[in-house]
Amino acid sequence: MRVEGPRYTERFGAVRINEVQKVLELDSGRARELTPYENVAVQKIEEGAIKDFEEKMVIVIPTKDEKLKLLEGVISGIPHECLILVVSNSQRKRIDRFKMEQDTLRQYCHFTRRQAYLVHQKDPVLAKALAGAGYNHIIDQDGLVRDGKAEGMIAAIFIAMMMKKDYIGFIDADNFSPGAVWEYVKCYAAGFYMSRSPYAMIRIIWRYKPKFGEGVYFRKWGRVSEVTNRCMNSLISIRTGFETDIVKTSNAGEHAMSLKLAGLLSYASRFAVEPQELISIFEDFGGVMPMACKTAAKHGIEIFQIETRNPHLHEDRGTEHLKDMLLPGLATIYHSRLCEKETKEKVLAELLQQNAINPGEEPPMPQISPPPKNIDIQKFTKVMGRHMESCSALEGK
Ligand code: GDD
Ligand code: MG
Repeated sequence: MRVEGPRYTERFGAVRINEVQKVLELDSGRARELTPYENVAVQKIEEGAIKDFEEKMVIVIPTKDEKLKLLEGVISGIPHECLILVVSNSQRKRIDRFKMEQDTLRQYCHFTRRQAYLVHQKDPVLAKALAGAGYNHIIDQDGLVRDGKAEGMIAAIFIAMMMKKDYIGFIDADNFSPGAVWEYVKCYAAGFYMSRSPYAMIRIIWRYKPKFGEGVYFRKWGRVSEVTNRCMNSLISIRTGFETDIVKTSNAGEHAMSLKLAGLLSYASRFAVEPQELISIFEDFGGVMPMACKTAAKHGIEIFQIETRNPHLHEDRGTEHLKDMLLPGLATIYHSRLCEKETKEKVLAELLQQNAINPGEEPPMPQISPPPKNIDIQKFTKVMGRHMESCSALEGK
């Protein structure tokens, strides 16, 4: 594929945030020697190079009671070399939707001869493995992993570490377009290819997120993203003294990280997880506070924002849900140790305007789980390793 090279980079301590890079060509043809200067402004990334990264990547699909046809479509878009890990929080009681997901996945893996794992978020063995390894932070009073997409993501990070993968990418299960899913993974691989640091994060920005009414309107920005990006950029601008609009992906649900980086970050509950990842990077490596990890600081943390060609089409959950996303996301900015008076005022003004808080109120403190790096992965593997066989969708593997 061909992607714009990182032409402008904002530096914040040891963090390098690259300006949005557009995909120019989904398929750039056969591998061949490049002409002089061909790779200066635009990077041609060969199929083989992309595959090398896909092989080391696990793609995690968090799902909760999604339509099976959508889930199957998403799976079908994931390049063959990637390992698939579906973390499901679907209902098991009245109708066993998890069982239906299992059946769908088994059939799919049987015919495509590929490996996929399906783990239920409420699987008692998963909770036992986490607790045994010393990570109780996402476990509820009932002794099981809490509800929430973020909680599923954190559990997936541990499983990816156990499976000795190098990269982890997330893709929502409610995507209508397998071609877009395919492109997200290509962008993840392209980002890791371009990164000069092993501590890298790739965040997807959609060219369009169409709205269907009478006809289709190819909208680019959602309300939540616009507001969250504005506040996130204010936090950086005031700290560096230079106004910036570099961050365009505060809420990017579709994103990937090297596991080295994933191990260092702290994670907010539910839908605040994506902005909190950035906050965590800025707090720990922005240079305002002591560096959280010397080796990572030496390499630098590199953030890519890649704009896809495919429009993003997913389930519309209505306007109330948007408010549920705005408040916790902005709360992570508001309660950050880096957030000063001016940005706090900006956050409060936005929340008041959207009727997400009442006058005089503050956003609630986010629930934050600490970095996974200190977990005893051997202990986790001891409990979860054998159990994974029963989570495999491909028989005989
Ligand atoms: N495992 C698991 N556990 N998955 C869940 C849970 C849960 O408790 N709750 C939701 N999911 C799954 C959904 O099935 C879907 O595949 C994905 O997580 C995202 O949930 P949506 O409800 O579709 O969220 P959204 O579309 O409003 O928001 C998405 O995009 C935002 C950016 O625009 C999410 O990815 C957000 O995190 C993201 O900020
Ligand atoms: Mg969605």
